[in-house]
Amino acid sequence: MKIHSRISGVGSFVPPKVYTNHDLEKMMDTTDEWIVQRTGIEQRHWVDENTSTSDLALEASKQAIADAGLANEDIDMIVFATLSPDHDFPGTGCFLQEKLGVSDISVFDIRQQCTGFLYGLSLADKFISSGSHKNVLVVGAEVHSKGLDKTPRGRAVSVLFGDGAGAVVMSATTVDDKSKDSHIMTSNLHADGSFAKELWVAAPGNALGPDRMNQAMIDENLHFPQMNGKTVFVHAVKRMAETLMKSCAEQGVKIEDVDLFLFHQANLRINSKVAEVLNIPEEKIFNTIQKYGNTTAATIPLGMHDAIKAGKLKPGMLVASAAFGSGFTWASAIWRQ
Ligand code: ACO
Repeated sequence: MKIHSRISGVGSFVPPKVYTNHDLEKMMDTTDEWIVQRTGIEQRHWVDENTSTSDLALEASKQAIADAGLANEDIDMIVFATLSPDHDFPGTGCFLQEKLGVSDISVFDIRQQCTGFLYGLSLADKFISSGSHKNVLVVGAEVHSKGLDKTPRGRAVSVLFGDGAGAVVMSATTVDDKSKDSHIMTSNLHADGSFAKELWVAAPGNALGPDRMNQAMIDENLHFPQMNGKTVFVHAVKRMAETLMKSCAEQGVKIEDVDLFLFHQANLRINSKVAEVLNIPEEKIFNTIQKYGNTTAATIPLGMHDAIKAGKLKPGMLVASAAFGSGFTWASAIWRQ
C-alpha cells in the first residue's frame, strides 16, 4: 500500500450564451455545413463582456470542491491550466484563489494549452503521492471568445473555439498499485518545441523586437491565434495514439479493458482517426465537441463531468485520456474513476 491520488470531486461550468454555426455565418463568411463536416462542431458557448476566465473557473471549482465533500479551506494547492488568462500576470490561479477565499496555499499556472489539464493532473498526482499535499484543485478554464478574430479573416480558427471551465479535486488515498479502487494509475507527458509556431499567438511578445505590443502587430493580426491546421491534425492523431499506447503498456492495460476514453476535443475527425488506428469502438469515446467546440484546457474535465451526469462514467470505471495541443504538447493518463 502506498499514497496515490484519486479524483474525489468534479465540476464544470459554461457561460449561458450559445452561438450556433448559423450565428457565425452572420459574422464570418462560413457555413454550418463546412464547420460540421470538417470538425463536428454545431455550437459553442461564449462569455458576455464582463466574464473572465477565473469567473468560469470559480463556478467549476465550487462544484468540484462540494462534490468532494470538502470546504474551500481544505484545498492545499491550485493548479490552473489556461492559455487565455485573466491578465498577463499574475497567473489566473491567484485570481481564483482570491475568489475562493483561501489563503497561504501553493498556486501554479501552467501553459500547456489543450494538454494543460493532463499536465495539471500529473503534477497534482506527483505532489500528492510525495505526501506533501492532500487535496489539490486542478482547473482548466478558457475564455477564447475575447481573443478570436470574428471577421472572415479569422474564420479558419475562430469557428473552432468555445469558452468553458472544468475542475477536479484530487485527494490522497492509500491503495495497492494494482488496486481497482479509485486512483490515478499513470500519466505520460510530452512536448516538441520545434513545432511551437504551428499553433500560436505571437503578440504580445518579447521576442518581437523592441516592443511587446504595438499598432503594427495589431494591423498584422499577430494578437490572434495562427494555426497550420493540417500539420496539427496529422500530429494530433499520431501522438495521441502513441502516448495512449505507452500509458496502457506501462499498466498492462489492453484497449478492450478500458471502460471510457476521455479525449481532448479539437476535431471529431481527429478522435475518429485515433479510434480507427487503435481499434476503439466509437461508443467508448465520450465526445462533447458538438456542443462546446474546442475549450482547450477545460475540455477533459468538462467532458468528465458531462459523462458522469449522462451516466456514462461511474465510480470504479477504467478511464483512459489523451490530449494534443499547441507547443506541440501531448499527454495521456489512465485512472480508476
Ligand atoms: N468556413 C468556410 N470555409 C473555410 C473556413 C470556414 N470557417 N475556414 C477555412 N475555410 C476554407 C479555406 O479558405 C479553404 O478554402 P480554399 O480551398 O478555397 O483555399 C478551404 O476551406 C479548406 O481549408 P483548409 O484549411 O485546407 O481545411 P482543412 O480541411 O485542413 O480543415 C481544419 C481545417 C478543420 C482546421 C483542420 O485542419 C483541423 O481540424 N485541424 C486541426 C485543428 C485543431 O485541432 N486545432 C486545435 C488544436 S488544439 C490547441 O492546442 C489550441
